[in-house]
Amino acid sequence: MRVIIVESEEAIGPIVADAIGALVAVQPGPVLGLATGSSPLPIYEELGRRYAAGTLSLRHAHAFLLDEYLGLPPDHPERYRNVIATHFAARVDIDMRNISSPDGTADDPHRAAATYDAAITASGGVDFQIVGVGANGHIAFNEPGSSLASRTRVLTLTRRTRTDNARFFGGDIDAVPRQCITQGLGTIMEARRILLTATGEHKAEAVQRTIEGPVTAMCPGSVLQMHPAVTAVIDTAAASRLELADYYRETTEPTVLL
Ligand code: GLP
Repeated sequence: MRVIIVESEEAIGPIVADAIGALVAVQPGPVLGLATGSSPLPIYEELGRRYAAGTLSLRHAHAFLLDEYLGLPPDHPERYRNVIATHFAARVDIDMRNISSPDGTADDPHRAAATYDAAITASGGVDFQIVGVGANGHIAFNEPGSSLASRTRVLTLTRRTRTDNARFFGGDIDAVPRQCITQGLGTIMEARRILLTATGEHKAEAVQRTIEGPVTAMCPGSVLQMHPAVTAVIDTAAASRLELADYYRETTEPTVLL
């Protein structure tokens, strides 16, 4: 894994936006993989700045979300489809109709999950996947214990994740859905390039386990070590527990693997 450690959160957006810009230059209609949560926000903000400056267009791009809560009403602001509409689509020229997300309102969510997985494959696959990592090592909503080969499916959220995400629901854990549809680890691993981002001291342990292993279902993000084109862009605080931090600083090119 390529590990880029940056001094501040503000440096993350430009590095990742450079990579997406370079991809769009050779492939104007890429399939992007989008994550929610707070970690990718600096990336979406920078993409928005570049679109506003006329230096980037995502007009021909398609995108797939990693996951979705089950059971939130369609207009709920924390429904991930709505979060992405607000924080990503509203800032750039991607067509919202070209952004797919798991149907968290489906009568048969298991079937919706399988349909979604098949749609990702049918699109030709994700060219550039953005992922964050949960404090318990989850990526998307693949909680500890997830099969490293899992496909998109219905999953129950851990109490830890619901506690962490309660901040988006007015601090009320009971308002956080108990279940979700999430891309599986096997699904995510089919993306051609993966960008992992994390910031802050509270992510340092999960980042260390994800990047430096061992590869284990107890830290689902660690499966990324098996992928040939993963770049982690993290700040100093999130990198603070990495055993090889000095080595990454000495050896790593400050550009995302494409
Ligand atoms: C959430 C999302 C993940 C996200 C993670 C970290 O529960 N389902 O996709 O990467 O938890 O969130 P944050 O970036 O807000 O710390």
